[in-house]
Amino acid sequence: MTADKAKAYGSPSGMDSPERSRQIPKGDDAMNDLTQCVLTPEVSAEGFDPLGVGVHRASTIVFKDAAAYAARGDRGHQGYSYGLYGTPTTRTLEAKLTALEGGAWTFLAPSGQAANALAVLPFLGAGDHVLIVDTVYPPMRDLAETDLRRLGIDVEFFDPGSADDVAARMRDTTKLVWCESPGSTTMEIVDLPAIADIAHARGALVGVDNTWATPLNFKPLAHGADIVTEALTKFVSGHSDVLMGSITLRDAALIHPVRALIGRMGIGVSADDASLVLRGFETLGVRLRHSDRVARDFARRIGSHPLVTHVLHPALETFPGHDIWKRDFLGSSGVFSVTFTEAASGHVAAALDALRLFAIGASWGGTRSLAAPMSIRSFRSATTWTGPDVILRLSIGLEDEADLWADLERFFADLGERVSAAAQRGSVRHG
Ligand SMILES: Cc1ncc(COP(=O)(O)O)c(C=O)c1O
Repeated sequence: MTADKAKAYGSPSGMDSPERSRQIPKGDDAMNDLTQCVLTPEVSAEGFDPLGVGVHRASTIVFKDAAAYAARGDRGHQGYSYGLYGTPTTRTLEAKLTALEGGAWTFLAPSGQAANALAVLPFLGAGDHVLIVDTVYPPMRDLAETDLRRLGIDVEFFDPGSADDVAARMRDTTKLVWCESPGSTTMEIVDLPAIADIAHARGALVGVDNTWATPLNFKPLAHGADIVTEALTKFVSGHSDVLMGSITLRDAALIHPVRALIGRMGIGVSADDASLVLRGFETLGVRLRHSDRVARDFARRIGSHPLVTHVLHPALETFPGHDIWKRDFLGSSGVFSVTFTEAASGHVAAALDALRLFAIGASWGGTRSLAAPMSIRSFRSATTWTGPDVILRLSIGLEDEADLWADLERFFADLGERVSAAAQRGSVRHG
């Protein structure tokens, strides 16, 4: 834009900043009311230095002249060109994640599952083979079995407890090995460095859904992964009021395929939601530390209850993947699962109604503790789940731990009564 034109738009010293074109002219150049309604008055930001980042809502981003607009593609993934490709608010969240994950770049997605889908789709095509951990988050299994197969991709699942199983299933066409550690609900830990070595030796990428651990408790990129996703919906945002996911890439070479697909699919997140996640992020460390401590304590205490067969928590010394967890992870979070005796399993769902504090619901990682009965068997194919089909998943929130424990005692008392009543009915029938 020329200096004259800039003046007509109220810029006293020319269009050296895109901000100027939005400002209301002063003095002789004053515009009529309707124009003033549309333009943004200039206010000083001098001395305004808040701790948090502002909420920058934008679809349109203004360019300083037509040449800059024509060259907008040259701004690359770091520049601002259109609201879909980022605002200072979303970039701040991306930068925080990139630093914590130790990656080259991070993209945001409207949910954790959207992040998972966007992490795998750019790297797979017809005729390719993908290996997915058998304990993967069920919608990811569904995406693989429905959409990836429909696109002509060979989908195979592997045993989370065996890097040898990964090695045995690798093919020349294997492009990606997808992990989640711990596994959904049953909490198996994979040996990520061993799997990454196997995959990389055959030229395949490795991706990890790191939602349970968060970037504070596990660094998949430092343990060999190329791609890490987080459902920020859970612990990172931490208040059960926003959905968001992230994809962090280890190498700059992986940035373009992901950004291009995000653009083609028109996927973006709102600055308001990113701002909520940023706010939650600030307290992630203390929330996680608390939930970890209380969850470990409860996991140990629950384990000695006569109606409980197993507590599935990687920080327990007796848990099968404990040694790998101890070697690779920096801590644990507040989610773990419980299996019950055969006599009790069928009554678990009904006994949950005795809970007054634990809310019954999916998702986890918020301030409120949650309990959810989860079904497992139909979500395994490379391995066989031999335990009872219904498992209780607990997410420990921020309530007073004595109150929470009293709530669990109510549940166990109710469960015990149901088991005794059923046993009595059985003995009368057989008596
Ligand atoms: C391990 C894991 N990954 C991803 C997701 C998906 O997150 P969202 O609910 O934001 O799609 C979940 C949700 O439960 C999850 O447990």
